[in-house]
Amino acid sequence: MKTALTFSGSIRKGSVNKTLQAYMDRKLAEAGVAVNSVDLSDFPMPIFNEDLEPDGVPEAAVRMAELWRSHDIIFIASPEYNGGLTPLLVNTITWVSRQRPSPFRHANFGIGGVSSGKYGTIWGLSHLRESLTKVGALVVPTLLGIGPADQALDDKGDFVEPAIIKKVEQMVTELTTFSRG
Ligand SMILES: Cc1cc2nc3c(=O)[nH]c(=O)nc-3n(C[C@H](O)[C@H](O)[C@H](O)COP(=O)(O)O)c2cc1C
Repeated sequence: MKTALTFSGSIRKGSVNKTLQAYMDRKLAEAGVAVNSVDLSDFPMPIFNEDLEPDGVPEAAVRMAELWRSHDIIFIASPEYNGGLTPLLVNTITWVSRQRPSPFRHANFGIGGVSSGKYGTIWGLSHLRESLTKVGALVVPTLLGIGPADQALDDKGDFVEPAIIKKVEQMVTELTTFSRG
């Protein structure tokens, strides 16, 4: 059975990206994947500074890197902040990138995001895709940028637009079938 780790770049209460994470959790589980859905508030890390290395590496970074190495699929849902990524997500990726062996070369990565704006995190997702690809991750091609949030979701946290539902299905197929060989 394939395994998936999912998390969101926003930890705020009522986060629409946590809603996307929960939706992907359900869709991956329906596809027969064992899902480990985590919250970044359980992985506290100080703002990265090379001076903290090597003695001050947070245990959460070591734990997170091991999770990245030990799951077949990683799905990241992230808001877009100022056309980029959230400080929380950038800090997490930065700390994880300093761990060895590489945490990026095992899983298939899927990235998606929901924003209040109509462009649906597309700038943020391009930064995320470039950064993950630069450090050796295989990021599946489907671009899951969703917005505006208030029109995309119903009260139960389900996506209502057929195009989005189809993209999620496409991403689940890519995540479960692509292989690094
Ligand atoms: C600092 C900050 C910057 C933001 N920048 C953008 C942006 O560039 N594009 C956008 O569509 N929404 C932007 N937003 C609005 C977010 O899309 C919105 O707050 C969204 O709900 C955040 O995701 P969350 O609900 O998962 O926390 C920004 C919000 C904050 C707090």
